[in-house]
Amino acid sequence: MKPTRANFLADALAGLASHPRTLPCKYLYDARGSELFEAICASDDYYVTRADLALHETHIGEFANLIGPQAHVVEFGSGAGIKTRKLLAGLDRPRAYTPIEISAAALAEASRELETSFPDIEIRPLRADYTGDIASEHLALDPPAARRVVYFPGSTIGNFERAEAKRFLQRMGRIADANGGILIGVDLLKPVEQLLRAYDDSEGITARFNLNLLERLAGELDARLEPEAFRHEARYDADHRRIEMHLVAQRPTRIELGGQCFDFQAGESIHTENSHKYSVSDFRELAASAGLQSSRVWKDPAGLFSMHWLEPMAA
Ligand code: TRP
Repeated sequence: MKPTRANFLADALAGLASHPRTLPCKYLYDARGSELFEAICASDDYYVTRADLALHETHIGEFANLIGPQAHVVEFGSGAGIKTRKLLAGLDRPRAYTPIEISAAALAEASRELETSFPDIEIRPLRADYTGDIASEHLALDPPAARRVVYFPGSTIGNFERAEAKRFLQRMGRIADANGGILIGVDLLKPVEQLLRAYDDSEGITARFNLNLLERLAGELDARLEPEAFRHEARYDADHRRIEMHLVAQRPTRIELGGQCFDFQAGESIHTENSHKYSVSDFRELAASAGLQSSRVWKDPAGLFSMHWLEPMAA
């Protein structure tokens, strides 16, 4: 579904009516949300970005050896980041690079910059929702590249429920060639206090990021609500091994949206996002269930974050 106002309204109404109440996390990322998200990534308490970057700096040579010469790199996401540049600069004569991204603006800007920096690499942006199926004709090169590699840094895989993550990995496997692979970032299990700090930073940026959803309901969907009645909360759910982000009503309050009323009791929450955490063996198992073998794993020195190299298992 395209993120139109009508879709946003329908999703918000369905989420608020369900129990427990939810709002889809994709609506966190409007212009303001994306700005706040960048600030989260730069904050001291959010360790993921630093650890991911450190891994790239230390192991780029090994990534390049595994990926080999003349590869076609397909990134899920716009490729605006510093990690993509490190990867492309470190590979042996990459043949082509395809960023897959839903936002036309982000895609165009990243592609323009990469074309300037890497004139020898064919940049082939593809505007699409990477959580859906990608038709193979959009990725075909003539003549074909030596191999096709899916690149998915960061820890976005953690935002999917485990069953969804499996289907998503299966799709990635279909995009990688039989002789290709997937280079993917996976956040690791760690002490709960450290996780909670990362998703409820001391500067309050994550709180503003989460609360921005309510501002969007008011600003874009004309909802009537009391934003100050809600507080951001990060919770760890040990059964699901995930951080959950919630907006919790601090007192009885009401949201009026699209002609409907949603009454909240004090303590009632709207669940807005999940971030699942994996041990190396947990993720190996998940990958195997999707027909992928994790043949190399790297961790940063503090053991906070990991990258896996996944290869399709022989049929
Ligand atoms: N996917 C990353 C993670 O789960 C980044 C992220 C998404 C995030 N939403 C977030 C980080 C909210 C902090 C708060 O870690």
